[in-house]
Amino acid sequence: MRIEINRPLDMHLHLRDGAMLKLAAPHSAKDFAGAVVMPNLVPPVNSAEAMSAYRSRILDAAGTHAKNFAPLMTIFLQKQTPEELLAFKNTPGFFAMKLYPAGATTNSDGGVRDFGEAEPTLRAMEELGIPLLVHGESNGFVMDRETEFLPVYRDLAVRFPELKICMEHISTAAALPLLDEFENLFATVTLHHLLFTLDDLAGGLLAPHLFCKPIVKRPEDREALRAAVFGGNDKIMFGSDSAPHPVSQKESAAAPGGIYSAPVLLPALTELFARNGALEKLNGFLGGNARKIYGLPETTQKIALEDTPQSVPARYCAEDGETCVVPMLAGKEIAWSVCE
Ligand code: NCD
Ligand code: ZN
Repeated sequence: MRIEINRPLDMHLHLRDGAMLKLAAPHSAKDFAGAVVMPNLVPPVNSAEAMSAYRSRILDAAGTHAKNFAPLMTIFLQKQTPEELLAFKNTPGFFAMKLYPAGATTNSDGGVRDFGEAEPTLRAMEELGIPLLVHGESNGFVMDRETEFLPVYRDLAVRFPELKICMEHISTAAALPLLDEFENLFATVTLHHLLFTLDDLAGGLLAPHLFCKPIVKRPEDREALRAAVFGGNDKIMFGSDSAPHPVSQKESAAAPGGIYSAPVLLPALTELFARNGALEKLNGFLGGNARKIYGLPETTQKIALEDTPQSVPARYCAEDGETCVVPMLAGKEIAWSVCE
């Protein structure tokens, strides 16, 4: 069997920098029309200059795939003034502001400590029509981090009714009702939260390459996310949260969160949707919904997949030969492949 989908969008992606960027960028740029690129570098991408320079490095790293790939750039939200926000808006490639609660995840130390202090920036974004992407976890919890954070989304949605607010990679059943409750709330969902539960991460041997934030949850959470996505909820967008870390760090006594899913996303998503009789919902989830929500241009480009199995490499290494990363589903078989 062969299917054709619109060239998709990944609405939440970590591309890193340096050798890792060179390794990761082609994996996304090959299959995707565009991706919302996270700003959590060290130092964070927090100015128009840093954003433009990073965008150039991304396009450079994407190589021959760059012509079909649009990096949708984000800037790390601090206390930017309306003038600064306007300058961002007028800089090519700018897409949205990303809010990190300070210390919540990898490289988020410079984030917002108190939401009150971000109020003038959020108000100005609302006026300028700049979307707000929120990293939806508070610090210090594991299972209930996201649930703890839901009142913050509520509060933001009520206080800034004209602001488009995206709950970045929701992972629990408890987050879903908010989408019905508030017109201005949207969400991204990853592939790994649709595939895995805590049992896959730590039910048997500990699987560090499945450790991410938010952590994969209970079976009932996965079922609720599946029902929403396969049911075609048009406020939910695909955001991979693909987040490569060197294998040396992942396989250590202090493993950082992040799953490197970029190389397997399209075939594995197609397999999952096909198994669940939901192939007709793939286009919406993989870009149609996002294009409508944010008014992004439609694409005329297609990408084809066929049900030819492939095995996933054990690891990918950068040109420097030292930076290696283990992809999601390493060593496993996927029932579909992208037609080259
Ligand atoms: C991300 C990373 O490594 O940058 N890690 C993760 O577990 N998802 C950061 C993030 O989005 O939380
Ligand atoms: Zn992320």
